[in-house]
Amino acid sequence: MSTVSDRPQPWSPLTVRLMLAQTAVLLVGLVIVVITAVMVGPSMFYHELIRAGHADEASGLMHLEDAFRSVSLTALAIGGIPALYIAGLLSFYLYRTIGKSLASFTTAAGEVAAGNYGVRVTSPKLGPEFDSLAASFNDMAAKLNAVDTTRRQMLADLAHEMRTPLTSLKGHLEGIEDGVVDLDERTTAILHAQITRLERLARDIRQLTQAEEGMTHLQLTLQDPDQLAAQAVDAVEQAAVDKNVSVTNISTGSPVAPVLVDRERMGQVLGNLLENALRHTPPGGAITVHTDHRPTEVTFTVTDTGEGIPAASLAHVFERFYRANTGREAQRGGSGLGLAISKALVEAQGGTLEATSPGPGRGASFRIRLPRRAASG
Ligand SMILES: Nc1ncnc2c1ncn2[C@@H]1O[C@H](COP(=O)(O)OP(=O)(O)OP(=O)(O)O)[C@@H](O)[C@H]1O
Ligand SMILES: [Mg+2]
Repeated sequence: MSTVSDRPQPWSPLTVRLMLAQTAVLLVGLVIVVITAVMVGPSMFYHELIRAGHADEASGLMHLEDAFRSVSLTALAIGGIPALYIAGLLSFYLYRTIGKSLASFTTAAGEVAAGNYGVRVTSPKLGPEFDSLAASFNDMAAKLNAVDTTRRQMLADLAHEMRTPLTSLKGHLEGIEDGVVDLDERTTAILHAQITRLERLARDIRQLTQAEEGMTHLQLTLQDPDQLAAQAVDAVEQAAVDKNVSVTNISTGSPVAPVLVDRERMGQVLGNLLENALRHTPPGGAITVHTDHRPTEVTFTVTDTGEGIPAASLAHVFERFYRANTGREAQRGGSGLGLAISKALVEAQGGTLEATSPGPGRGASFRIRLPRRAASG
């Protein structure tokens, strides 16, 4: 991270312009004071003396008026010249500081435009407006930095994810070319699986980007939560039977009103959670989908009796490409994007998604909370 320093530029064009404007104001003020002292002051003094009963000493009064004029001018010169000098110095210092700090903001903005998001500005200590400008600028640069880091990380992860299927495809094709691998049913199935994996990766990345950028066009309609849960359970029923895992759907609370959600997207989220639960629950295990109707919100909780999630991994399961057990997970074909997509989709619909687990071997639980909202047309 770098900080933009204030380069000394005593006579920047802005300083010169501000100084000229200030000098003009001072000169106008001075001319008005001199005119007042020379023309208005003595005659007021004269009339005041007459009012006080000194009219009979008229010739003496004329002399007094001249004396008043010259005393006023002398006093103005003695007091005015140092005052002008000090005002000029103070103005110069102030304008030079403003000019320097504006120059440092310009330099910093140029650095950000050139892609150096680590740049920061220091507040010139010229008041709350400048403090807030510096804070906003630094905040903007920090956010751009975070976005840039995420983007780089995502591209690196994506390249890494693509490498495994591509290496497998290339290896098998070279083996076929060299005659060491037969293009039989088994090889075709492997090639197919790798291509499917790449397709899935491309689809997931698109979905995630759209959901995170809020570009997913949600079709919000009023839906019966129990029906959403039942449909999601139906979709995995056969796979669960095949794996000898039981799936139970329960509903509690009084179903007072439907919830405003995108039916397809919520189905996708529940599907992802059920797919995960099934993948991480060994035969003989159980999965429960619990829909709870509360006055202020509806919650869906998908709980399983499977592998569980270690406490250290819980905080990361919603990160892109995160897999708690990389070796085994990779073999099972998941790209580690399902939960990141689910979270973004739930949040886009105004809800939250959180994970809990009592620990490895003791199952895991994922809860979607959807606050009740009124339909907006
Ligand atoms: N029910 C669960 N029990 C135990 N671990 C889980 C469960 N659900 C998710 N996880 C852990 O969280 C990780 C991330 O899950 P996520 O759904 O994002 O990715 P994935 O299932 O590996 O791949 P994808 O969903 O993209 O096919 C998983 O790899 C797994 O380690
Ligand atoms: Mg998944």
